[in-house]
Amino acid sequence: MPPLKTIYLTIIFILIIPYPITTGDQSYISILITQKGLTFTKDLLISKAISSLTPTPIPEIVKTVKIPLIGKVHVVLKDISINGVQVGSSDVVPSVGGVVIVGNGVSCELEVKWHYSYGTWVGPVSVSDSGTASIKVDGMEISVTLDMVNKEGSMNLSIVECNCHINDISIDLDGGASWLYQGIVDAFEDEIVLAVEKAITKKLKAGISHLESILQTLPKQIPVDDTASLNVTFVNNPYMSDTSLGVEINGLFVENKTHAHSYHNGLQPPVSCSESSKMIGIALDEAVFKSASALYYNAKFMHWIVDKIPQQSILNTAGWRFIVPQLYKKYPNADMNLDITLSDPPDMQISWQKIGAIVYADLIIDVLEGDDTIPVACISLVIAGTGSVELVGKNLKSHMNLDDFTMSLKWSKIGTLHMFLIQPVMWTIIETVFLPYVNARLGVGFPLPIIRGFMLQNAEIIPSDSRITVCSDVAYEEYVDSSRSLVSTS
Ligand SMILES: *[C@@H]1O[C@H](CO)[C@@H](O)[C@H](O)[C@H]1NC(C)=O
Ligand SMILES: *[C@@H]1O[C@H](CO)[C@@H](O)[C@H](O)[C@H]1NC(C)=O
Ligand SMILES: *[C@@H]1O[C@H](CO)[C@@H](O)[C@H](O)[C@H]1NC(C)=O
Repeated sequence: MPPLKTIYLTIIFILIIPYPITTGDQSYISILITQKGLTFTKDLLISKAISSLTPTPIPEIVKTVKIPLIGKVHVVLKDISINGVQVGSSDVVPSVGGVVIVGNGVSCELEVKWHYSYGTWVGPVSVSDSGTASIKVDGMEISVTLDMVNKEGSMNLSIVECNCHINDISIDLDGGASWLYQGIVDAFEDEIVLAVEKAITKKLKAGISHLESILQTLPKQIPVDDTASLNVTFVNNPYMSDTSLGVEINGLFVENKTHAHSYHNGLQPPVSCSESSKMIGIALDEAVFKSASALYYNAKFMHWIVDKIPQQSILNTAGWRFIVPQLYKKYPNADMNLDITLSDPPDMQISWQKIGAIVYADLIIDVLEGDDTIPVACISLVIAGTGSVELVGKNLKSHMNLDDFTMSLKWSKIGTLHMFLIQPVMWTIIETVFLPYVNARLGVGFPLPIIRGFMLQNAEIIPSDSRITVCSDVAYEEYVDSSRSLVSTS
């Protein structure tokens, strides 16, 4: 189907984001996550990480420490858990080696139960005590470096590095003897630091492997309707620059069983969004729309019979009495229908100025006599329109307006037809029958490849030379964790 687009005549400062010239597989939809989008993602990941870190249980620590004047004391710290994690500042830095997410000034609190016992030199009496302590961890630095690689069309996320470093802890005992405080600080400080670093690193790794499993379950096709799906297989490796991360997907329409057609795109221009710094840019190549058009054309979707129209008099030979007298003479007052077939896949061209669509159709005029349908003439139409595209939810919907059409007589069993006489009738048919039919289909649209849970906000659609770019902010709705069906279809 030939989709199309509204031209936003905003003054656009094109922000050229460096993008690699594709050398590997062809990609027809590319998605660029800008620094703003990466920051949004990072904040989301950090808030997820914080909620997964609290509480984090830490194994108990047991030690015998030597305390002056008292001797050997057996000390146990148990029921340790991390609470109240806070992140001072954070940053996300994409680079060729992977995306680095850094959290600085991270602090948290540990609730601890302590218990000690020791024997006295006076006799077989043992002394013991227990209580609680709170430990404050400050100035923790956490950094995670992630790499993304395309593995057979899926994104494989892996951890290059995951570090957690604690600068300082302070211990606050609730009760207990005064010597105990110093004893715990001296003997346990390093172990507590190590235990916390280890526990946090482990949790983060688990979180990332969960994220990885979500990426693995992303579908490779998103159904559009009964006939077609959008091939959202990742192609090539993601591209990372200092300020952005780009991924490419195949992006063509495929019939849910047959082979793909081959399309060619030239050198990919960069994904360009307006200066208004949106979070992501999704660039759709003209080939995406052409693949849709070819697919529906081949699926024989583009044939229909018209037997009801707003101006019903057109569907009776009496209505043609003065423009095609021989028709009325041969079949007086007979009902008619129109048999419309697209004769070629609709063609479309996207440019800075407009989205142009050309539809080639054959219109056969049928006369109905009793049970017989008698084709009497066939007119070839070339209909030129201008398209507009809008985003409704995640669906890119389009609409076509008629610019002009030309027609010619393909064959006739009723002699020559005067095209200039027929033209107004054709205009009416195109405006009242043809376009509403086409627009009903275009209006269904197709879903942009957005991971479920994320919504597009303040989207802007920018046509450029042979592609349409959707520049948008993204919002997150809580349900990304339901690991099934991550790409929504509406
Ligand atoms: C992803 O990459 C990691 C490390 O390179 C590898 O161990 C793992 O098997 C890969 N996963 C898949 C699904 O290919
Ligand atoms: C194509 O999709 C439709 C609707 O989902 C389904 O009825 C049909 O069986 C599918 N065809 C194939 C070959 O998967
Ligand atoms: C989908 O795209 C991938 C990557 O370009 C390609 O290998 C695969 O054959 C495509 N699938 C279909 C059904 O065309």
